[in-house]
Amino acid sequence: MTDNKISSNILYIGADDKELDLFEGQYVIPEGISYNSYLILDEKVAIMDTIDARKTNEWLDNLAAALNGRKPDYLIVSHMEPDHSANVKRVMEMYPDITVVCTAQAQKLITRFFGVAPAADKMKLVKDGDTLALGTHTLQFFTAPMVHWPEVMMTYEQSEKILFAADAFGKFGALSYDDPEGWACEARRYYFNIVGKYGVQVQAILKKLAGLEITKICPLHGPVLDENLDYYLQTYNTWSSYEPEDEGIFIAYCSLHGNTEEAALKLASLIKSESSVKVSVSDLRHDDMAEAIEDAFRYDRLVLAAPTYDGGVMPIMEDFIHHLKIKNFQKRRVAFIENGSWAPMAGKKMREAMETLKGIEIVEPIVTVESTVKPATVEALKQLAEALI
Ligand code: FEO
Repeated sequence: MTDNKISSNILYIGADDKELDLFEGQYVIPEGISYNSYLILDEKVAIMDTIDARKTNEWLDNLAAALNGRKPDYLIVSHMEPDHSANVKRVMEMYPDITVVCTAQAQKLITRFFGVAPAADKMKLVKDGDTLALGTHTLQFFTAPMVHWPEVMMTYEQSEKILFAADAFGKFGALSYDDPEGWACEARRYYFNIVGKYGVQVQAILKKLAGLEITKICPLHGPVLDENLDYYLQTYNTWSSYEPEDEGIFIAYCSLHGNTEEAALKLASLIKSESSVKVSVSDLRHDDMAEAIEDAFRYDRLVLAAPTYDGGVMPIMEDFIHHLKIKNFQKRRVAFIENGSWAPMAGKKMREAMETLKGIEIVEPIVTVESTVKPATVEALKQLAEALI
């Protein structure tokens, strides 16, 4: 992309948000986020989604500059979540002749969010495979329900072979931030926390797109992807099929007074000293929960280490397991370290919770720390390290 040009007739008109602290009110975004929007200029002019209300003025300026005096004919609404749809009503008011193009589900959400729907002759409802000619450009629509709301659709522009992918293939991080970790790290955190529950639905849209030649992917967040597209499609296939992306062991722990932490870190050092297996460790008390979720899905083995608390599990670990459940965590080998000074229960509770998930293989032994790490604890941790390796 040179400046705002995706191609000679397709322009980027979105905006970065580097001030927002929590995306969706829950995910830290230290490097911000972009709300992407595009304009296709042809005999007919199409706006591809609006953006978040926080950046309305910047978006309107970008839109006006890109239109350069022309009037838009269509507003394509891929997704009604407010980070993309906040300005739909404003566009309808600014351009009373514009036709809103969306799915029937999106039409309902327009009414719910704005209290008004476009007049029948200003609304074009589309179904899977429908097309809309703009001139030399032709848009083809593919419904993508639950990726990540029910009304979502993707749009394939046939002449330039560009896929407007809605939330899919997006990542955290403003476009002005040159992410040294590349696309995958923040795209993975975004995917598993926001779309992770809907692997089946992501698989369905990947199948629909499989026959298309795609030269560029334009997501609603993050950079336009214009090379090595097989990598991104294959990575989404891996993520949405819940297969591990990498071999490795992820240890997620919490601790009341440092003893469970000592056991978790001892396990990590034993694995490292006995093997070349990659180990990643997260202290759930302080580290980003969304990143811990990401790592749990990334690796093929997971260790949960927590103290007993009020006859159950320390709440931050319960919260982590709850997140894993609602994101459809599955198909992994899982081990446990518990701590208990008089009636250890954490291991039993964590095991029961994880056994409700699909394809979970429990790795024995469950290691019990009786208050503090002792020689017998280290022996048990060695056995667990061997079993995990
Ligand atoms: Fe970027 Fe589902 O909204």
